[in-house]
Amino acid sequence: MPVDIRELLRRSSLFAELSASELDAVARTAEPRDFARDEVIVAMNEPADGLFVVASGRVKVSMPSSEGKEIIIATLGPGDFFGEMALLDDEPRSASVVAQLPTAAYRIRRYDFERLLDAHPAIGRKLLREMSLRLRRANAQMESLVTLDVVGRLARFLIDLARQHGQLLGNGWVAVRRPTHQDIANSIGTTRETVTRLMADLEQRGQVVNEGKMTYMREDVLRREGE
Ligand code: CMP
Repeated sequence: MPVDIRELLRRSSLFAELSASELDAVARTAEPRDFARDEVIVAMNEPADGLFVVASGRVKVSMPSSEGKEIIIATLGPGDFFGEMALLDDEPRSASVVAQLPTAAYRIRRYDFERLLDAHPAIGRKLLREMSLRLRRANAQMESLVTLDVVGRLARFLIDLARQHGQLLGNGWVAVRRPTHQDIANSIGTTRETVTRLMADLEQRGQVVNEGKMTYMREDVLRREGE
């Protein structure tokens, strides 16, 4: 489905407070890009030339461990942005960003982004808000890696995934497109085999339902955790 860029920007975490004409101005400078699944959109340590807003699909933010394994730090979906850090601190890319699903995004060049930031304090405020949220999530992830066993980490991962990317079905269930078991393993610091075994356990106990590419979870589980 084609995504109307003005509507996307209006709903995005960064540009929501701009007027219609300001959104038009941003839309004119943004360049649409399509990425296949597993395509590298931003490569860690490369120089930066722009920021991206996700229109559809999902991306993973990752870096290699000292043994060269992929560590997934975060996933981002429609309305989210990435690639801002290297523009803000003038350093190379802090991580890689790879399409986890086929993904459409808009690229805003460094020069245009800097002009937008200068002209609209609201964008700067939104940016700080979103970066604070990401820092909170990163702190929570660190806490979970240090304090939870792998069963707890998987449970928390699935709940966070459903909260961030899930779709409420209106019948008490949430649906979310399931990452590969390897991607789940790389997000929670375990092996693919362990994820496969634990997902089967969760399913047997009725805590998740896996059907095709989707995972279904009960909405009340999302509300209970973390309250
Ligand atoms: P940049 O460093 O330009 O390129 C990699 C991008 O990954 C980075 O900007 C952020 O947009 C994103 N990123 C890095 N770390 C995190 C994180 N902890 N949570 C969410 N996104 C991140």
